[in-house]
Amino acid sequence: MNILLRGGKCVFSDRIRQKDILIAGEAISRVEDPDTVIDLPPGTLCFDMSGKYLLPGFIDAHTHYGLGEGEDATADDFFSGSKAAAVGGVTTFIDFADQLADKTLAESAGIRINEAKDSAVDFSLHQGIYRMHRNIADELYELRNSGITALKIFTTYKEFGVYLDPGEWNGLFGLCRDSRMLVCVHAEDETVLEAAAQRSADASPGPEMHPILRPAEAEASAIRKAGRVAKENNLPLYIVHVSSEMAMDAVRRLREDGAVIIAETAPHYLFLTEEKLKTADGALYLMTPPLRKTKDNDVLKAALKSGEIDIIATDHCSYPPGRKTRFPDCRKIPAGIPGSGEAASLLCSLFSDGAEGVNSTDFVSIARVFSEMPARVFGLYPKKGSLLPGTDADITVISPDAEGIISSETVNTLAGYTPYDGVRYRGAPSMIILRGEIIVENGIFCGKRGGGRFQACRESEVFQQGGP
Ligand code: URP
Ligand code: ZN
Ligand code: ZN
Repeated sequence: MNILLRGGKCVFSDRIRQKDILIAGEAISRVEDPDTVIDLPPGTLCFDMSGKYLLPGFIDAHTHYGLGEGEDATADDFFSGSKAAAVGGVTTFIDFADQLADKTLAESAGIRINEAKDSAVDFSLHQGIYRMHRNIADELYELRNSGITALKIFTTYKEFGVYLDPGEWNGLFGLCRDSRMLVCVHAEDETVLEAAAQRSADASPGPEMHPILRPAEAEASAIRKAGRVAKENNLPLYIVHVSSEMAMDAVRRLREDGAVIIAETAPHYLFLTEEKLKTADGALYLMTPPLRKTKDNDVLKAALKSGEIDIIATDHCSYPPGRKTRFPDCRKIPAGIPGSGEAASLLCSLFSDGAEGVNSTDFVSIARVFSEMPARVFGLYPKKGSLLPGTDADITVISPDAEGIISSETVNTLAGYTPYDGVRYRGAPSMIILRGEIIVENGIFCGKRGGGRFQACRESEVFQQGGP
């Protein structure tokens, strides 16, 4: 099918220009000045995009769909989660594969790719590394050849069997430098968490205690330690879900010392505070690292705007509300919240200067942190993350004046609630195109189960001269 998107404000890396975009099949075929595309192929569908912003499809580089089994499973499987994401303007997500017992890394990833086959949008994976063994070096090369070029390690979560002992970091990081695999870290120092637990006399701490049991100091400490080992190995390091000012300061210090650190944050660390954990349904706002204070929100917002934080990702990990609220003890509440569907509108608010009646949203920055940078950092650029001719026709159309209030009544996540209920927005995705197919029109999903495709990642641009 051919589609002409006429006269929209197209968002490129460094500027916005009014252009016509012609899509032929799955790719963008031409990007030209308005009304200059005259020799349209017969049957081309034309859409008037005047007043709308056309961004490269969003890339949510941190999701957990279809996690766990039975009672413990997330509310969203790959289809429902990716459908919610699509309505929120996401055309590619990157989820995680566990390192499975008795399987190689590539086999573990292959199993997860199969689990994700119902996804409504394109996807890729980060591969978890929870233990080292003799063949890991060979397995890394095999994994890389299968299109997975980023790993995930946890400095906590011993109870889930995913904790990688810090004694293994040096060996792993050296191998990753040689094989040019990007390492992503969930940073919370287990020793600091254990000390916080020792200090707490509470036998059954409620959700409001979560930030005390998982303090920002744990996050900063893990970043410092992992960052130092990465620097010694001349390896770039990606820190997932930076939640606090203290963690941001740790990132800054490491960079000043010459380490290459890529920082990601999530919308909840910008828009929600620990006050939510003190409410009657505090459990619905529990994730790790926990929500922090207004000051932390402000520091992270400024860092995202200034480019110190490279990427925004949702860490969508939705659980049915009943699963979360049934445990009075915060240590037993399944950690994670939904968020795939709301990120785009929240970003429109964040990157707007708030002026009434004019369109003052900084869409170039939104495209940078939620599309181009994740594409570059995870080796998908320019196929994803750009509006360049010849690349995948993944396009997120934003209606800048669409106004409303985010509501649990209207979300697509099967969690059935949003932590942003009641938040006002101005600017929302209206049409989403995935590889030339319209999958959302007027905010309504019209794509299909299994419409997404696994995307093989190339080497991260962070390994290249000058970085992304
Ligand atoms: O609480 C969270 N963030 N759940 C998802 C797993 C993780 O640590 O990212
Ligand atoms: Zn995490
Ligand atoms: Zn996560």
